[in-house]
Amino acid sequence: MATDLALDLSSEELAGLIEPRLVTELPGPNARAVIEADGKVTSPSLPRAYPFVPVRGAGAMVQDVDGNIFLDFNAGIAVCSTGHAHPKVVVAIKEQAERLLHYSASDFYLPIYAELCDRLDGIAPMEGPTRTFLANSGTEAVEAAMKLARNHTGRQNLISFLGSFHGRSYGSVSLTASQAKYHQGFGPLLPGVYHVPYWGGEGAVEYMEQVLFRRLAPANEFAALFVEPILGEGGYEVPQPRFLGQLRDLCSRHGILLVADEVQCGMGRTGKMWAVQHFDVQPDILLAGKGIASGMPLGAMIARADLMTWEMGAHGSTYGGNPVSCAAALASIDLIESELLANTERIGAMVLDGLRRLAGDQPIIREARGLGLMIGLELTDPRTADAVEVASFKRGLLVLRAGDAAIRIAPPLVLSEPQARAGLRIIEEACREVAERGPEAFSTSGHEAGPGTPEGA
Ligand SMILES: Cc1ncc(COP(=O)(O)O)c(C=O)c1O
Repeated sequence: MATDLALDLSSEELAGLIEPRLVTELPGPNARAVIEADGKVTSPSLPRAYPFVPVRGAGAMVQDVDGNIFLDFNAGIAVCSTGHAHPKVVVAIKEQAERLLHYSASDFYLPIYAELCDRLDGIAPMEGPTRTFLANSGTEAVEAAMKLARNHTGRQNLISFLGSFHGRSYGSVSLTASQAKYHQGFGPLLPGVYHVPYWGGEGAVEYMEQVLFRRLAPANEFAALFVEPILGEGGYEVPQPRFLGQLRDLCSRHGILLVADEVQCGMGRTGKMWAVQHFDVQPDILLAGKGIASGMPLGAMIARADLMTWEMGAHGSTYGGNPVSCAAALASIDLIESELLANTERIGAMVLDGLRRLAGDQPIIREARGLGLMIGLELTDPRTADAVEVASFKRGLLVLRAGDAAIRIAPPLVLSEPQARAGLRIIEEACREVAERGPEAFSTSGHEAGPGTPEGA
């Protein structure tokens, strides 16, 4: 199988492209060969969205195994915050890799681990001091928060929202309630988890006071409430403005810890470093992942220092806070703070505005919503959303389903204005084609997921 590309473009040239460049049908011959080989040896549980086979990326552009170049509005699922292979992140990774690849920070002292925790303390959206536990992924950050909350409060119960996604390991998947398939065949899940209707933030607090705490379990038996300040896999929904403040008050009233899961919406994606900052709310614990290290595996549980009462040995991780991931995170935070927050706010407003105008003209679109470069485009139904995803892919634009019938738009935060305009034009063309031909005209070979089953998280 030929996976060597004639790399005729330098990385700078690739990053500087504006439009996709397709040179084969999709999937191309090399992509088909990879997909066939992959199908024999990889776990069939992997939720593949469409037959995209990337081998190289720079900025907001990604090249596939056949040399096709795509405009990436996925950012590796909201991960490559600083763009694919940002030169400053790559240099930081290379330098750290040459110095020290690994030493377990759970058992010894890594300077760069503490440096990153200090940096996170500096940008954490809590007033007082914080301490941080570093993990390898979002789900591990969630697990750490569940354990810390129970350990610190001595209470067992946990709350999360219907529609939320918090991960796939046993604790976090017990909180997750976006799709039944995440639970199917895995029970019993973690006991003590209660799900509450989300309703875009309307009425959820009343439900907890009037139903949950009165009928199911008293408030003083709840350790923590987990919330995604902007719903991620559940549909890129922005709650009504008072929602998070109401949750803060509820938690403070009952001694419940408020955990903001910012694995997807944090690290600058919404135009502020943390999504809670749009709502002027301070969580007790904040979880970060995905965009924190531009693609290197890292998760962080940042907690108010006074909550970190667990004892030495209570929690740890062999690889969590790996020095190479820490180096990538420090470089990513520098870039996000110095230039990307402003770009995200400006380009995000432009994309949202363009999509709202499109929604006004195009009956298959229900609404466009979002903050910064975390934008959801709600279509009329799941099949139509699937079709728009596929029609965009066929034109060289990468987007991904979310929620019941939404397309998520989560490009790298380095997206330029011309690239944003090109993406908007492609979405408009894709929607027009789906409206004209009907959603049933769209499918991709190698695409196993049925309609209405968003992939990834
Ligand atoms: C809000 C949220 N929390 C947790 C996770 C789990 O992160 P990971 O896939 O890195 O385990 C995800 C995404 O996958 C997420 O979107």
